[in-house]
Amino acid sequence: MPTRTALIVLSQLLLALLAALATPLRSASADSRDRFAHQKIVSEKCEVCHERSSPGIVHDWERSLHAKAEVTCIDCHEAAPSDPDARAHEGAYISAVVSPKDCSRCHPRQVAEFNQSLHAKAVSFLLNLEGDRAGDDALAYKVEGKAAAVMGCEKCHGSLVKAENGKLDPQTWPNGGIGRINPDGSRGSCSACHTRHRFSVAEARKPETCGTCHMGPDHPQYEIYMESKHGVIYASEGRSWDMEVAGKAWDTQHYRAPTCATCHMSGLGELETTHNVSDRLSWELEHPLTIKTDDWEGKRTRMKKVCLSCHSKNWVENHYVQFDNVIGLYNDDYFKPIKEAMDQLYKGGYLTEEKFDEEIEFKFFEFWHHEGRRARMGASMMGPDFTQWHGFYELAKHRLELEHMMRELREQKDRTRFAEK
Ligand code: HEC
Ligand code: HEC
Ligand code: HEC
Ligand code: HEC
Ligand code: HEC
Ligand code: HEC
Ligand code: HEC
Ligand code: HEC
Repeated sequence: MPTRTALIVLSQLLLALLAALATPLRSASADSRDRFAHQKIVSEKCEVCHERSSPGIVHDWERSLHAKAEVTCIDCHEAAPSDPDARAHEGAYISAVVSPKDCSRCHPRQVAEFNQSLHAKAVSFLLNLEGDRAGDDALAYKVEGKAAAVMGCEKCHGSLVKAENGKLDPQTWPNGGIGRINPDGSRGSCSACHTRHRFSVAEARKPETCGTCHMGPDHPQYEIYMESKHGVIYASEGRSWDMEVAGKAWDTQHYRAPTCATCHMSGLGELETTHNVSDRLSWELEHPLTIKTDDWEGKRTRMKKVCLSCHSKNWVENHYVQFDNVIGLYNDDYFKPIKEAMDQLYKGGYLTEEKFDEEIEFKFFEFWHHEGRRARMGASMMGPDFTQWHGFYELAKHRLELEHMMRELREQKDRTRFAEK
């Protein structure tokens, strides 16, 4: 782009000249015009140089709505000199970290909603890691090793990004985890769904985006969705759907089946768009024992409004009847009795208090965390293979094996206790 570069250089000279001419006539509005002119020079410098050093970034940005709206490099990357992550860079203070707080200058509603969701709390378990931990986090940080957690758990959940004198700590950066804690104290990473520098709505509406994190043996929402009729329709014709339509105008004229975003985030009919992904969920399916969320009825009503754009009342009500029956079955027939028996083993001294130092603890963990979740999540989002073969079949088999292991543990320990006496 030699002509474009030349034009920019020319315009920079002109602006500098104008600024020099305006100096004697200073007023408040001239000040803000100067600031604007200065910003423009600085940001065009960023573009020109980065077009050479990292053209991919500049080309992505040029294709974004931000470029059209004249939102430039410095609007997002500017830092206060005193910020721990600020570095002096080509005549400006900048940071590589662009947090939700930076976006909130122009998108306050999306950031406020995001802050209410569980996404914004996804690193809670990192905040009190010190001391004696008991839970799946203990698995990562004590049993597996920290390096695994940094490139595993923290890539999805987020890290505690640390910086000193403009230098970002390589133990914690790069990181794009959904709930990462930024050096400015804000939580989250908007580019987890809208990758830089396109910041596209179409990308965020596609299930592949959510699938980065919502997949695998313990929360296979992506696989469940792709198995469901909704996902099958998306796979067969989704490529021809217009995913760019702004806001609530994106509706059933543009797609025949919902994506993750449609059910959990999009506006539709009476429903407003939300960045609070927790807003339509009546159950906490990720917990060992399934429990209701606060205001579960309101949340369920909102989810049903999504379904009712394409289905009849009966279809939707009866889906929830079948789904609730699955939750009852899992809670009462599988989780509660096995949990009760495990608690008895701890109480009787058959197991140490330490987590993940005995084989049966891995088995019990997978019982609720893998197959137990798959069974419930499969039922919530119409994935029968996950409810059945990856879910209840495994639950039934492992319930038997767990009972067997518990009996053996007791017998063995009782024998040694008897011998010691
Ligand atoms: C003269 C060329 C040049 C100019 C002008 C320039 N940059 Fe850079 N910038 C670079 C190079 C080269 C790198 C990569 C090497 C490095 O990290 O220091 C870089 C790195 C960066 C990084 C990554 C920093 C990190 O810690 O990972 C950001 C963000 C950035 N520039 C933004 C900007 C912004 C915003 C402007 C305008 C205020 C700007 N740059 C102006 C050349 C330039
Ligand atoms: C709408 C806000 C926004 C604008 C405008 C913007 N950036 Fe960024 N930039 C980001 C975000 C978000 C990241 C990812 C860092 C993060 O996760 O916090 C990023 C990352 C970067 C990085 C580090 C990327 C890497 O992979 O190492 C560089 C360099 C950078 N931006 C340069 C630029 C330049 C040059 C421009 C102007 C052409 C620009 N940015 C415009 C938000 C923005
Ligand atoms: C200086 C103001 C400003 C900042 C800072 C800013 N944006 Fe924007 N953003 C805009 C404007 C203006 C538009 C285009 C008009 C609109 O849709 O609101 C836009 C549009 C968007 C869109 C819609 C794009 C589409 O395809 O429809 C997304 C997504 C977005 N911004 C995300 C972000 C994120 C994430 C950040 C922080 C990393 C950010 N923005 C920072 C002003 C800003
Ligand atoms: C970068 C990883 C990542 C991406 C991408 C991501 N999520 Fe999440 N999501 C998480 C994590 C981690 C949690 C669990 C947070 C916790 O419970 O601590 C979560 C939780 C959720 C929940 C449960 C909230 C609750 O209250 O129980 C929903 C619903 C959800 N995400 C939907 C989505 C959708 C829809 C998308 C895509 C548009 C998406 N997520 C993209 C990581 C991600
Ligand atoms: C592939 C991305 C990914 C990885 C890797 C990952 N998680 Fe998660 N995690 C998620 C998602 C997505 C959820 C939300 C599941 C849901 O709500 O259905 C979640 C849920 C959780 C929860 C439940 C939070 C709650 O609200 O009760 C905890 C705790 C957790 N993860 C800890 C960890 C730990 C510790 C590691 C590393 C051993 C880890 N995760 C690895 C994506 C991931
Ligand atoms: C879990 C994925 C996800 C994350 C994280 C996320 N977004 Fe979005 N965003 C979406 C989806 C999906 C849409 C489109 C909703 C729809 O269908 O209309 C969207 C739309 C937008 C829009 C267009 C206007 C609107 O509200 O529809 C803006 C602006 C935006 N997001 C900004 C942000 C900012 C700022 C952040 C960081 C706080 C952020 N997003 C984080 C998924 C996400
Ligand atoms: C047809 C609508 C629909 C689609 C499409 C959909 N979901 Fe769901 N999702 C639901 C319903 C319904 C629930 C259970 C709601 C409840 O608890 O009342 C749920 C629950 C969840 C949960 C919460 C699990 C928990 O731990 O409580 C997550 C996370 C989630 N979905 C993510 C996704 C992702 C990621 C996709 C796409 C790959 C997706 N969903 C596609 C309707 C949908
Ligand atoms: C954008 C339209 C749309 C939305 C929104 C939608 N669905 Fe569907 N759904 C469909 C279509 C189309 C089919 C395929 C029907 C067929 O098999 O002919 C379908 C199929 C189903 C099936 C049958 C699955 C099977 O295995 O046969 C169930 C159950 C279902 N949807 C429930 C829901 C629920 C519950 C919601 C809300 C949480 C919902 N749907 C939201 C369009 C939608």
